[in-house]
Amino acid sequence: MDASRPTAADTYTFGDTPTAARRLALLAEVFDPPTRALLTAWSPSPVDHALDLGCGPGHTTALVHATSGARRTTGLERSAEHVARARAAAPAGVEVVQHDVTVGPLPVAPAQLALSRFLLTHLAAPGAALATWVGALVPGGRLLAQETARLASADPVLGRYYALVDELQRHHGQALDIGSRLGDLAAAVPGTEVVHAAVVPLRPSVPAMAALHAMNVRTWRTDPYAVTAFDPAELDDLTTALDVIAAGGRATADVELDLAEVVVERGRD
Ligand SMILES: C[S@@+](CC[C@H](N)C(=O)[O-])C[C@H]1O[C@@H](n2cnc3c(N)ncnc32)[C@H](O)[C@@H]1O
Repeated sequence: MDASRPTAADTYTFGDTPTAARRLALLAEVFDPPTRALLTAWSPSPVDHALDLGCGPGHTTALVHATSGARRTTGLERSAEHVARARAAAPAGVEVVQHDVTVGPLPVAPAQLALSRFLLTHLAAPGAALATWVGALVPGGRLLAQETARLASADPVLGRYYALVDELQRHHGQALDIGSRLGDLAAAVPGTEVVHAAVVPLRPSVPAMAALHAMNVRTWRTDPYAVTAFDPAELDDLTTALDVIAAGGRATADVELDLAEVVVERGRD
């Protein structure tokens, strides 16, 4: 993968169906603490305008708006279905714009704060995306990003799920573990300074993670690559096994999740 922008739009394998939206609602619960902590510690003050890049149904947008005290917050999202959900749920002060955020300049007023959570993992040119997003900030504005650096489990069902998602993402030129390169990608963005970079080890609830994964298999198994490369009977069995773990029906090894985070500040000159 290089930093240049791909000519074709990125494939978003995790979908925008009602199941995908339910998955993002659960994801929002599971990852609320680390994202809230990042926003609380590193949002600039005051924030007149904040951005949420790849906002999905709007959970992160509401979180950005509430934690930063922004006068107004704009969610940017490519999927019309997620845009409709985010608009329906938007609190006062939040608006949602349909846009592919790999295409700059972003159609928004300059912002003091931007958040990207779990979007770079779906992009084939994450370095170029970061540069585009920094271009939407005022001088001194901050881009906060969180991405998975490592996702593993000694449990065979969970481990198999991670191997399949990794293969699917790689096929599309994307990286499940993009967080492992997040600090380097951020440091390469011209005209910026990395003011914070860390990897936070998490041990999320295994049933919750299995529920997220089961919903995701049901969504990404229709991806054209998954249809040809993966055995549908194995995906049936995997979904059933994940459902059992999600329901608390079987004890498993931990899910080991390293969450990478960066804060990039746009130069003032
Ligand atoms: C994994 S979800 C994360 C949603 C939200 N940030 C969160 O953490 O709950 C990624 C979101 O980015 C959107 N997305 C993917 N590629 C995009 C692009 N190029 N431009 C705008 N949105 C995009 C997807 O439709 C999806 O809603």
